[in-house]
Amino acid sequence: AVVHVILSGGVGSRLWPVSRKSMPKQYIPMFGEKSLFQLTAERNAHLADQTLVVGNKDNYLLSQADLIRAGVHQYTEVIEAAPRNTAAAIAFAAFDLKSDDVILVTPSDHIITDEDAYAKAIAESIQLAKEGYLVTFGIKPSKPETGYGYIEHNGNEVIAFREKPNQSTAELFLEQGNFLWNSGMFCFQAGIYLEELKNFEPEIYETSLKTWEARSNAFLPETETMLIPSVSIDYAVMERSEKIKVVEATFGWSDLGSFESIWEHWENQGEVHHFKQNNCVVGSTKHVEFLGVSNLMLVETPDAILVLDKSNSQDVKKIYERLEREI
Ligand code: GDD
Ligand code: MG
Repeated sequence: AVVHVILSGGVGSRLWPVSRKSMPKQYIPMFGEKSLFQLTAERNAHLADQTLVVGNKDNYLLSQADLIRAGVHQYTEVIEAAPRNTAAAIAFAAFDLKSDDVILVTPSDHIITDEDAYAKAIAESIQLAKEGYLVTFGIKPSKPETGYGYIEHNGNEVIAFREKPNQSTAELFLEQGNFLWNSGMFCFQAGIYLEELKNFEPEIYETSLKTWEARSNAFLPETETMLIPSVSIDYAVMERSEKIKVVEATFGWSDLGSFESIWEHWENQGEVHHFKQNNCVVGSTKHVEFLGVSNLMLVETPDAILVLDKSNSQDVKKIYERLEREI
């Protein structure tokens, strides 16, 4: 079977104050009436035979509500006690499935345009997954973004996978020209993923398996969970495996992870009403003016205001983390 695995572990801390622990960004109807989670479930429902959500105890009810809205009435859930990053989250999905089941892993917070091109890319990746490869989806890079993984490639062949390079390395990759961004979606057989994880990160494999075995219904236990090393699939497997292939995306892709990416999304969509004087952007229901400043973004919610320089978008996470400690 082909199983769509939705990862929904994040709280979207780089989008505070819009994104909150009680209502993470993927559940907010930010773009139109539907949330990004709902759109993800809808988009993939007809491309896969089953849907499986790996989320956590704070958000699983939100996932359930969005799955119903998406028309997905039959699904499996894995409910984490605490997030231990994507290597483990994907392992839980794999433990639940048969070894030759093909997993299509997607985050729950991306915007995809051109669904026909998307469906074609998925079909191609499923084919490669059946042949035993770990498939990534590559996006043509438009700037030396340091928050993404980079795939050095030649057609479908992957020469190297480099997660989150520093600025100068990212610039070099762009100059070189044969690099793609890793979209953060993956396609592979459950058994092949687990083999590679066991091979490269035996500790993550063992501790995840122990956690999985100690579950009660959909709920994973906290004590075992806390022993799992927190590493992403990118570092744990993708950078090391020799079985990686890439499918270059012809669909539109955007990861709305930060205010800067939302800014760019608005710019690309021609949504100029968000732009004020001096290239400042506003997300507020009040009348806002800017004077003598530039490249600022103002974001207002009923109980908080954030003013930030566009180039500091990645650091909003630090504010979130500080507030979490203080409150
Ligand atoms: N269930 C679960 N549990 N989900 C998780 C966990 C976890 O512990 N940690 C992260 N996720 C989910 C997030 O909610 C998100 O949907 C997805 O997994 C990816 O995690 P991010 O934290 O957003 O990763 P990233 O943005 O730093 O990097 C990844 O995505 C980039 C593209 O958006 C990497 O795959 C990069 O290589 C890639 O370029
Ligand atoms: Mg992300």
